Amino acid sequence: MTPDWEALRRASRDVAKRAYAPYSGFPVGAAALVDDGRIVVGCNVENAGYGVTLCAECGLVSDLIAGGGGRLVAFTCVGGPDAVPTMPCGRCRQLLWEHGGAALQVDTPAGVMTMDQVLPMAFGVAELDVVSGKETKTEDN
Ligand code: THU
Repeated sequence: MTPDWEALRRASRDVAKRAYAPYSGFPVGAAALVDDGRIVVGCNVENAGYGVTLCAECGLVSDLIAGGGGRLVAFTCVGGPDAVPTMPCGRCRQLLWEHGGAALQVDTPAGVMTMDQVLPMAFGVAELDVVSGKETKTEDN
């Protein structure tokens, strides 16, 4: 599936306008293409208890699952007052790994990269095989 990167970037800029970021002043918008053709989005939602803040990617994953699930194919994110391309934080890379795996295409300021370039040697479901006693590895984890 070939991503329409301009449509994804537009969706991320649009959702960034709805971010709730009164504490950092750093609105973030994220958008991704799902393997069934859907576009899912999320924005950051901050909290007076700063550590409770939800990153934009949390909202995006919630949109993915609540909308029927699927695998993320292509991801983009913008942040800051000028909505410039922004990398997902470390925790959010882990979220993206879970739902997109190694092959997820990630829009970065240095061009499109794969998720395994963005999060090398990732921890994933395959590591849990040792306790689950059953094969949980999928083709891209
Ligand atoms: N933020 C995100 O929404 N996603 C990221 O991947 C990086 C950081 C948000 C959290 C906080 O509301 C603001 O950006 C500043 O850290």
